[in-house]
Amino acid sequence: MSILIKGGRVVTATDDYVADVYVTDEQIDQVGRSLEVDADRVIDAAGKYVLPGCIDPHTHLDMPFGGTVTIDDFESGHASAAFGGTTCHVDFCIQGKGQTFGEALDTWHAKANGKALIDYGFHIAVTDLLAGGTLEELASLPEQGITSYKLFMAYKNVLQVDDLTLFQAMQVAAGSGALVMVHAENGDAIDVLVREALGRGETAPIHHALTRPPELEGEATNRAIQLARIAGSPLYVVHVTCKEAVEPIRRARELGWDVWGETCTQYFFRSIDDLARPGFDGAKYVYSPPARDASNHAVLWDAVRTDALSAISTDHCAFLWDGQKTLGKDDFTKIPNGAPGLEDRLVMIHHFGVNEGRIGLNRMVDLLATQPAKLFGLYPRKGTIAPGADGDIVIFDPAKEHTLGAASHHSKADYNLYEGMTVTGAPELTMVRGNVIVEGGQLVAEPGVGQFVKRARFGEALSS
Ligand code: URP
Ligand code: ZN
Ligand code: ZN
Repeated sequence: MSILIKGGRVVTATDDYVADVYVTDEQIDQVGRSLEVDADRVIDAAGKYVLPGCIDPHTHLDMPFGGTVTIDDFESGHASAAFGGTTCHVDFCIQGKGQTFGEALDTWHAKANGKALIDYGFHIAVTDLLAGGTLEELASLPEQGITSYKLFMAYKNVLQVDDLTLFQAMQVAAGSGALVMVHAENGDAIDVLVREALGRGETAPIHHALTRPPELEGEATNRAIQLARIAGSPLYVVHVTCKEAVEPIRRARELGWDVWGETCTQYFFRSIDDLARPGFDGAKYVYSPPARDASNHAVLWDAVRTDALSAISTDHCAFLWDGQKTLGKDDFTKIPNGAPGLEDRLVMIHHFGVNEGRIGLNRMVDLLATQPAKLFGLYPRKGTIAPGADGDIVIFDPAKEHTLGAASHHSKADYNLYEGMTVTGAPELTMVRGNVIVEGGQLVAEPGVGQFVKRARFGEALSS
């Protein structure tokens, strides 16, 4: 199947021009003015943006967590992603206690097999280097295209690792060509604050945020940066929420250290006040790190504009409010942490970032596609529009009005963080390697079209 996309405004991280794009054999073959090619299908994209498919480097599909399992699997999650203009994501494969990394990866491959609608890779989430996974096995994972190791500095007695494990994984990464990712919050201090709060009878959702103050995110962020510096590994701090964490990342980057950070869509829009909503609605906004004081919204926009933070992910970790979030009705520590958002990132960042003048269109593409591709070993096969790249393309109508909400989104979640908000600009067509996945508001592909992508080592380029 070959497709000629005619006369659209091609926007990459660096360029913005009107051209035709010819996709054949799953790849972009030519980009140029008035291309004379025979194509099976011609799409008129006049007045539309032709964007590289967005890449989400942070998702949790079909993941056991908080006494339940995230509600979106690789089929519903991928449908939701494709409607939102995301064509590739990197999901967290969680090592169960006592499991080898190979066993964990087999489990995650099985979750995705036959269901995928977009392309995907896996980070390995290291939870246990004593029983099960060994340093040697960790070092060998890049050979399988698993080129990032995630470590949780919080969620005590669940996913949290100690500094010994974190530092050893960093040392392995320094030699194996993997990028270390951290969830940076001080889980031990949080555990003390949580037990004190429960002792005072404080059980409502707002206490989730009050027991995880921004200083504890700042402390863990700085600790991870210093440890990575000594170990010699590159470091990527996930879901950065606040000034206390942005500042050490900015400082490290100014010193030229191999440190990057991401934030997530929700941290620009939601605040600690959302957790105090009446009638247990606050549970919808329980995720970690928590939504912060609204003064941090401007801090984060400034950070992504100035490259203190280099990517925006979703941390899509969707639970039903009714039946899953309600597990914590009488105790905020039992509310599963996480929220949906895979579908909403591009439209929200385009409207409130680009339309409202906080970032430019090129920077939007950079944050949502090109930087994730470069940092996670997918570039230049993904993350840009150029001959030789995969035909992962979004045709985006900048004038289309779209109202966000649970009734119209494609996640199985029964709520949306941006319920009722109207934006201008929305994807019209999403294709993955030249296969049209979503068009005209319909899912038009069959599960199984998405493929696992073996990612290149950190700093290397992915060819085929
Ligand atoms: O609350 C969140 N963020 N849930 C997903 C797990 C994580 O910490 O990323
Ligand atoms: Zn996390
Ligand atoms: Zn996450």
